[in-house]
Amino acid sequence: MVLTTLWVQVPPRPPRKHMKTNYYITTSIPYLNGQPHLGHALEFVMADVLARSARQNGHPTIFSTGTDEHGAKVAQAAAAHKMTPQAYCDHMSLEFKHLLKLLDVSADRFVRTTDSNHEKRAKLIWEALSKDIYRDKYTGWYDVKQEEFIPVGKADPERMKPDHPQAYQRLEEENYFFKLSKYTGRIKEAIVSNAFQIYPLTRRNEILSLLDEGLEDISISRPKDQLEWGISVPDDTSQVMYVWVEALMNYITVLNYPEGNDFKDFWPANVQVVGKDILRFHGAIWPAMLMSLGLSLPKALYVHGFITVGGQTMSKSTGNGIHPKEIINKYGLDAFRYYFLRHIPSYDDGDFSWETFDAAYNNELANELGNAVQRTVVMIEKYQDSVIGDIPPSSHDTAAITKAIEVCKFDRALDEIWQQVRGLNQYIDEEKPWQIAATDDKAHLQEVLAYQVSCLIEIADLLTPFLPGTAAKIKAIFESEKVKPLATTLFPKLEVPKER
Ligand code: MSP
Repeated sequence: MVLTTLWVQVPPRPPRKHMKTNYYITTSIPYLNGQPHLGHALEFVMADVLARSARQNGHPTIFSTGTDEHGAKVAQAAAAHKMTPQAYCDHMSLEFKHLLKLLDVSADRFVRTTDSNHEKRAKLIWEALSKDIYRDKYTGWYDVKQEEFIPVGKADPERMKPDHPQAYQRLEEENYFFKLSKYTGRIKEAIVSNAFQIYPLTRRNEILSLLDEGLEDISISRPKDQLEWGISVPDDTSQVMYVWVEALMNYITVLNYPEGNDFKDFWPANVQVVGKDILRFHGAIWPAMLMSLGLSLPKALYVHGFITVGGQTMSKSTGNGIHPKEIINKYGLDAFRYYFLRHIPSYDDGDFSWETFDAAYNNELANELGNAVQRTVVMIEKYQDSVIGDIPPSSHDTAAITKAIEVCKFDRALDEIWQQVRGLNQYIDEEKPWQIAATDDKAHLQEVLAYQVSCLIEIADLLTPFLPGTAAKIKAIFESEKVKPLATTLFPKLEVPKER
């Protein structure tokens, strides 16, 4: 065949500076051994703020979440429900999908670790890791609750007792090991240099001290005669992959690693959102796997704290687990999102109680935000026959809010936005438009009311990633020449029951 060179006029690429960088965000993928709870909701909503904020800033975004379906814990839960693991997972996975919908979480991807695409690509990853995999004997404990191998020296003696409600399993088995120890130094370097950022600092320090102790190689498979519910190890059907190692792979299987365009265009993730109990998996094991694969580490890992209810850990035995639905049915979705983003500290543990929820709802949402909107609407209707007039451009410095979102301080960002809400109410109290209306100075009145509208539109913009429904409602009120009042107030005041 004769190859001829064709000189084709290629249109110039658009200048890169106008193209926004891609943004990839993930949550951890919950186990399916129980109903979704407030902790899962918190994580979904926090990640949603980052995804919505990236999209608002024009970044092409992929936001991925899903469910972690293999392993002993899920297999046991299925057996307790007298279901096959697959049928049980099909059912439970839907519960999480419903929760995402209920929370208006804008996830673009939902990976199930039982998906054939995940399974196929997990095997490819295993093969790509093979230079760091070897066979050995594991003798020690296994914690089904955390799906974790517990080396002898680190085991809690109480849980070694077989009658303990969360007794460990004693294991003596052949399995595959991963050379985690080999990566200790490089992971540390990536964290110290901030190539791999970990927020907050306390969690960064925690992982650094773990690295200082040195990482040990870990088991990454289970014999099939001990646990069937998992993905088979390539070329060895007598073993299944350890659920954690396989679940971590979801972050790239969902992008169609290795050949998929999404993988090429969106990895490394900008932020991976996880809870504090799974820091070691995401701050040590996952980075080591990525290094072994020759891939970049995520740019940042954000580690949120734990929610307690009325000061107590949520658990089945205390019966204090609250389904997010209960709260949303009572207060509405945006009140839910607001409370968990502002009143659960972004960098620490936090408590939910109905009392603090009532107070935040009535004082901050109804009295402060709701009122600022309501007063403005009513005055424009009353004094200007609903005509808004020319709205001046917004003039507040929002750098602190942008920075807070960048470092996942959602509580801080909302504090800052609320400064603006309070500032607006104060402005109205000081300007007293109702007094101006009693004079003939229509131009001044128009100016004051238009400024109020400008502030509210700016607040709505700032609130868009946090309270998308409320932000859209506020914008809709002021989007035309005349105000379009809402059928009901944004946050109707609630009667607080006396017994609380
Ligand atoms: N399946 C693993 C994650 C695998 S990621 C590759 C897992 N699942 S989980 O269902 O136990 O937890 C899912 C997320 O919920 C984790 O980030 C965990 O920290 C978070 N939470 C679980 N309980 C929580 C609270 N009480 N409060 C806040 N978040 C908590 O771990």
